[in-house]
Amino acid sequence: MKIDYQEPSKDLLMRIDIHEKYGSANIDEWTNDLLKPQAGMDILDVGCGAGKLCFLFDDYTKRQAKIVGGDFSNELLEKARAKNAERGSKIDFQFLDFNEKFNFADSSFDLCTSAFAIYYASDLNFTFGEAHRVLKDGGRLFVSGPLPENKQMFYEIIKEATHAEIPPMPGSSRFKGDIFDTIDGIFAKTELHKFENHLTFPSVAPFIDYVRASLGEDRKLWTSMFNGADEYEALISKIQTVAQAWFERDGKLVMTKVVGGILATK
Ligand SMILES: C[S@@+](CC[C@H](N)C(=O)[O-])C[C@H]1O[C@@H](n2cnc3c(N)ncnc32)[C@H](O)[C@@H]1O
Repeated sequence: MKIDYQEPSKDLLMRIDIHEKYGSANIDEWTNDLLKPQAGMDILDVGCGAGKLCFLFDDYTKRQAKIVGGDFSNELLEKARAKNAERGSKIDFQFLDFNEKFNFADSSFDLCTSAFAIYYASDLNFTFGEAHRVLKDGGRLFVSGPLPENKQMFYEIIKEATHAEIPPMPGSSRFKGDIFDTIDGIFAKTELHKFENHLTFPSVAPFIDYVRASLGEDRKLWTSMFNGADEYEALISKIQTVAQAWFERDGKLVMTKVVGGILATK
């Protein structure tokens, strides 16, 4: 399955910012508690985006791990490299398309991670096969992504506003099924962990910021719902009306992110 997908850096950074501002729990702490990356480790983050996880591990290991971040978006890699230079960190950000063979020798890494990215792969067996190949024996793979119950309120508001079908989201529909099963078939041991974050929006505006950062035209995941800028604005305005009605009824807007973490050992 070929998924035509692009992540504009402003949208990704906006969503990360909103999760941090309005969330009840911190996904970074959850990730570090689960993985406890150590000084001296070789770490590969696949679909690193602007480098969020790489910088997290760099801080946690007090810059004592060898970290490589790979992504196919040059725009996001540039952001990551700029931050790397600003921090004086030594993370190696490089081009990596996870639908192609990874440019690393067998048994190179202790830890391979991918946050909200790798499930866009066209051929899961191939991509997780590559992750397995570049890991050392006993090395770990960590993949996070949305579970089916993720962000229900967000989808319900959009459904009520549009009376249209929500387009299939590559992550949520495949995470517990195909993705878990593929990894489980390749790795020696596989576990599923769960993280919940309640985002409480104190007004409608930041929720609409989140909607815009999720439905952006160039993201190409939602294009079945609108065609061009005018239809996009009309859609946002309908969503705003429904969100406003929910807000007046409940006094707040709460959206729960439900994230799965697949942790596997080679
Ligand atoms: C939702 S973002 C997550 C970014 C980052 N892991 C984070 O947690 O902030 C998804 C990322 O997957 C990347 N991506 C999508 N398809 C890819 C591919 N075929 N190869 C490499 N990266 C890809 C996008 O460029 C984007 O950076």
